[in-house]
Amino acid sequence: MPFTPDSELDLLFPAELIPSEVTKLLPSELHMRPLASTDYHRGHLSVLSVLTVVTDPGEEAWRGQFEAQRAAPRTYYPIVIIDKPSDRIVAVGTVFIERKFLRGLGCVGHIEDIAVDKSQQGKKLGLRVIQALTAISENSGCYKTILNCSDSNIPFYEKCGFQKKENEMAKYA
Ligand code: ACO
Repeated sequence: MPFTPDSELDLLFPAELIPSEVTKLLPSELHMRPLASTDYHRGHLSVLSVLTVVTDPGEEAWRGQFEAQRAAPRTYYPIVIIDKPSDRIVAVGTVFIERKFLRGLGCVGHIEDIAVDKSQQGKKLGLRVIQALTAISENSGCYKTILNCSDSNIPFYEKCGFQKKENEMAKYA
């Protein structure tokens, strides 16, 4: 499939919010942009499957989730990196913005669901995704950007400038 330029896509948030300081560091065959309404067909779930077991909900339900995120403006910022020759997704990540009553009505950026296709790992794509999401969080006015990860990923996030703080608690339904 030929590369589809941003101008022909229905994007979840404005592409200008992704800083050019980060996108210019990518190799020329790669392109970083917001998630698009047709990315179900570009391997979005397949890239996420390097992170955990993914159940395909079908295109219609996937599209419903895309619209639900878009209906909450200035909150969800899912980004993808596209391999231009194949028009396929090779890396993904999201930051969502939590608005607080604390900290002078401050906000916090939560980074979620970072995944780089196995064939592209170790080429700084994970780093570029984190740099872009952190910039979106900080440019949204967040006083901190946080995430949960396994022990084995701590060195990666330290390379991205994050520090270990406190603990994660979870209760699964
Ligand atoms: N242990 C030690 N160092 C690491 C690791 C690791 N597991 N992963 C990356 N690094 C280092 C790299 O060597 C590089 O160091 P350098 O600057 O000295 O060369 C630096 O971190 C940046 O690495 P990238 O090349 O950007 O890493 P990559 O593109 O492979 O992305 C990621 C890292 C996202 C962890 C990827 O390997 C992946 O998708 N793994 C499977 C899914 C996963 O675990 N996702 C994260 C879940 S946590 C969350 O979503 C909040």
